[in-house]
Amino acid sequence: MSNAKGIKLVDLDEEGVNRAFRADVLAGLRQEPKAIPARWLYDDAGSQLFEEITQLPEYYPTRAETQILESLGNEFADRIGPGRAVVEFGSGSSVKTPLLLDAIAPSAYVPLDISGDFLRAAAKDLSGKFPGLPVHPVEADFMRQVELPSEIADLPKLGFFPGSTIGNMVPRTAVDLLRTMRATLGEGALLLIGMDLIKSEDILKAAYDDAQGVTAEFNLNLARRINRELDGTIPVEKLRHEARWEDHYARIEMHLVAEEALEFSVSGVTFELAAGESIHTENSHKFDRRSANTLLLAGGWTPIARWLDLEERFSLILAEASIPRSAP
Ligand code: AVI
Repeated sequence: MSNAKGIKLVDLDEEGVNRAFRADVLAGLRQEPKAIPARWLYDDAGSQLFEEITQLPEYYPTRAETQILESLGNEFADRIGPGRAVVEFGSGSSVKTPLLLDAIAPSAYVPLDISGDFLRAAAKDLSGKFPGLPVHPVEADFMRQVELPSEIADLPKLGFFPGSTIGNMVPRTAVDLLRTMRATLGEGALLLIGMDLIKSEDILKAAYDDAQGVTAEFNLNLARRINRELDGTIPVEKLRHEARWEDHYARIEMHLVAEEALEFSVSGVTFELAAGESIHTENSHKFDRRSANTLLLAGGWTPIARWLDLEERFSLILAEASIPRSAP
């Protein structure tokens, strides 16, 4: 099993049922409002659907971030300088990582992922494209502090966290992760992080509810996965995908909405959904310059440069590990 974003827990009991998945689903369906952590969207089918989402005309973040990396190579080189060990949180996509490595002449590349499969694929891919570059894959959960390979101990570090994956976390979790990244990378480190921007509700909602229905399938796959892996009886055809813009939290929320009153069971436990009630399955926070800066500062990183794509839809921010000092 694998996860495109490297944020999945793997803990199988003897029946082959993922215990952490079951615990999260049962707890999430018992609470009001009902909610299931977004990391469970990424089984093999979900990871494949997410790859399809990144190609959709409405889903601009991947294209916008790639455009920044393609067009601003010189500026990255100037700001970051050569000789850093690039530590990527979540194994690299085939397109973005080479663009960064091409631009900055690094000394080593360290892909970090909880899924060994993704890690090996990313390491092989990158070694093929950059034959002289030492690649040191690390299989680990980057939500916890990671010990980096001894080979890069003396190199200056650059953390790379593209895709606005930080936006899938509520602020408290995002701050914890940023602080953990700082502890992993150490003093003197830089972080290059993708953060999607607040924009018109129409554009945002279309990006998360595309005309071809791929995002709907991605969301509904969670219900199918529950039926497959947790002996569930959710009538998937009676659920509807919904993408909501919650202005108060500056985030898109994905929900699975019951089209009529439903009763179903999961692992032998019965649940009910009233007509119109939903299961909340994902948050995707959007940022402006100030909210992005505040989040980074809270996580121990001082923003030093910010780049946008030509249509100003997406930001890539360079931050340096803040030096703890007394403040007024
Ligand atoms: C992985 N993550 C940054 C995506 C996002 O845009 O929040 C996940 C996604 N969900 C629906 N579409 C894409």
